[in-house]
Amino acid sequence: MCLWVTRLGETRHKACAALLAASLFSLMRGASCQEAQTGDQNGAQPRVTYQNMTPEQRAAATRAFLGLGAVPDKAAAERGAPIYQQTCAFCHGPQARGATGPSLITSDEVLSDDHGEHLVEFLKKGRPEKGMPAYAPMAEEQLKDIAEFLHLQVEEIANRGAYQVQNIVVGNASDGKAYVAAHCMTCHTAEAFAHIGRKFRSAEQLQRGWVWPAHEGDPATAITATVKTPSGEAISGRVTQVSDFRITLVDAAGQTRAIDLGPGVEVRMNNPLAAHEALILTLRNDDMHNVTAYLNSLKDTLK
Ligand code: HEC
Ligand code: HEC
Repeated sequence: MCLWVTRLGETRHKACAALLAASLFSLMRGASCQEAQTGDQNGAQPRVTYQNMTPEQRAAATRAFLGLGAVPDKAAAERGAPIYQQTCAFCHGPQARGATGPSLITSDEVLSDDHGEHLVEFLKKGRPEKGMPAYAPMAEEQLKDIAEFLHLQVEEIANRGAYQVQNIVVGNASDGKAYVAAHCMTCHTAEAFAHIGRKFRSAEQLQRGWVWPAHEGDPATAITATVKTPSGEAISGRVTQVSDFRITLVDAAGQTRAIDLGPGVEVRMNNPLAAHEALILTLRNDDMHNVTAYLNSLKDTLK
């Protein structure tokens, strides 16, 4: 089975990866897989067993075994993460493992792609008739970043525990300070940022936290709406789903209310993170790293 995997072309390789992902770890421990990992069928090279490999070797072996292709671009994936969360997570789940839409971890469309060359085209077209919107108006770069985010999710499942998070504090703190002064202080106070680095367990989380501050179930960041029906009733609550035809809210009492968007229905949406959404569309990679470096440095501010 493993040899079959290694001998097939890229695409089938990856489709195979999807099928095999679930049983990966038991397979990796099987002796028959050693050949697939090393590509050595004559036994000329000494073999390192999976148990004896370093985490890096395991990650490489897993990648080769699954035919995962190109290593995901971590920076692009980080830019893609908030766009994904905002645009796709409703339907595919926050880690792309599926919700009302299918899991994207095992999707052929994702696994047959390396750096967006296939996926971007797919996302532009979507499958609107099947509930998958078309993202034609979205910038190509953003769609590519989303693709990298999805590849990273696949990678993180395949190489669970072995994935090395790089040091992301690589920016210039004083440039970050200038960026924050120019872009953030209309809404945030210096006090709020003074110890911000301490609120997060790692710089990685800090970066995720400031770029896209939404937490599941956090009322401070939830999108809410007030819907006025033709009969004059006003229904307010947290938006859980919205389409051209219908909006679903959870009201203060925890009741789910689905309202059809016919004539005479007025919807007023409030998105507390609208500014953060606008921000991520203009944020350059350097800005992102600089701001993270600056905010991270405030960890040690003692006033
Ligand atoms: C309103 C819900 C919804 C949103 C929002 C949505 N999707 Fe989907 N998506 C779906 C559904 C439903 C399908 C399955 C369509 C089908 O049955 O062929 C799907 C299918 C897909 C597939 C193909 C899966 C496969 O292998 O067949 C990919 C890839 C995908 N979506 C990615 C995305 C990305 C990336 C975004 C955000 C830019 C996104 N989707 C936003 C509902 C959604
Ligand atoms: C137009 C208003 C606005 C702007 C501009 C803005 N934010 Fe926010 N930010 C918010 C809102 C609203 C929240 C969610 C409520 C909260 O957590 O305070 C938030 C949350 C955050 C959080 C999470 C706070 C926490 O305690 O978890 C961080 C960090 C953050 N923003 C950083 C930034 C940075 C850095 C910038 C500039 C690059 C910025 N914000 C620009 C409105 C804004």
